[in-house]
Amino acid sequence: MTASIIDGKAFAAGLRARIADHAAAFEQAAGRKAGLAVVLVGEDPASQVYVRSKGKATLECGMNSFEHKLPADADEATLLALVEQLNADPAVDGILVQLPLPAHLDEQKVIATINPDKDVDGFHVTNAGRLAVGLPGFVPCTPLGCLMLLKDQLGNLSGLDAVVIGRSNIVGKPMAQLLLAESCTVTIAHSRTKNLEDVVRRADIVVAAVGRPEMVKGSWIKPGATVIDVGINRLPPAEGESKGRLVGDVDYAQTLEVAGAVTPVPGGVGPMTIAVLLRNALVAAHRNAG
Ligand code: GUN
Repeated sequence: MTASIIDGKAFAAGLRARIADHAAAFEQAAGRKAGLAVVLVGEDPASQVYVRSKGKATLECGMNSFEHKLPADADEATLLALVEQLNADPAVDGILVQLPLPAHLDEQKVIATINPDKDVDGFHVTNAGRLAVGLPGFVPCTPLGCLMLLKDQLGNLSGLDAVVIGRSNIVGKPMAQLLLAESCTVTIAHSRTKNLEDVVRRADIVVAAVGRPEMVKGSWIKPGATVIDVGINRLPPAEGESKGRLVGDVDYAQTLEVAGAVTPVPGGVGPMTIAVLLRNALVAAHRNAG
């Protein structure tokens, strides 16, 4: 059997096109563009790439992008003052502070300072709480993108066994909440889980978000299961390569032989994160304008 390949890139492109239409309608109705502010502290190369892509995608969708860069040694008071300034700015509908922050800054304190109604990342405890109790709020972009792909692939998820590998606040925990809200039977596995292979083998849905290259083997997958790979890991360069290959947390070649459907890396979950961010920014714009 060969699994279907879930084309996150194409799905995200469709979503972005719909968001662009909605952004134009918002501008007509509100007399201003929706606006997303992105804050980057320091020079982490991966974060610089993400922030540049987010800014470009925001403009392409017909929204305003406000980029704020602070030096790596910026103090907490400066960053918190910037967040407060963005909270108060009516042109800014959504605020994203790119993580990770330099070690001397307290991420939780910074996230807690963002107005929950501008928290398009869904990281504020108010939004995490809203998700946990089933109230409307902002949901973290990567897990919401994964859920969209799963529903597109499977339709109704009710009663399915789902295993989420990874328990981060950004992906694992909100992913589990979303699947629970869809009436899946959810297991959260992590680095201390015993017999991970057996746990994974029971699952109709596997979401891997551990950050360990090709950790999940094809032999662990139940035949026909749907596998969502959130990992993006760069392998060390092989001989003759200047850069190593990008791989997920799942052994893709092996999984293709067993699963019903699987997301590739790159081109699976990655493009969904930015598309959902734009969606959340537009939702924020409607809330803030209304
Ligand atoms: N760093 C890695 N992923 C994310 C994300 O989704 N949002 C923010 N703010 N930082 C990140």
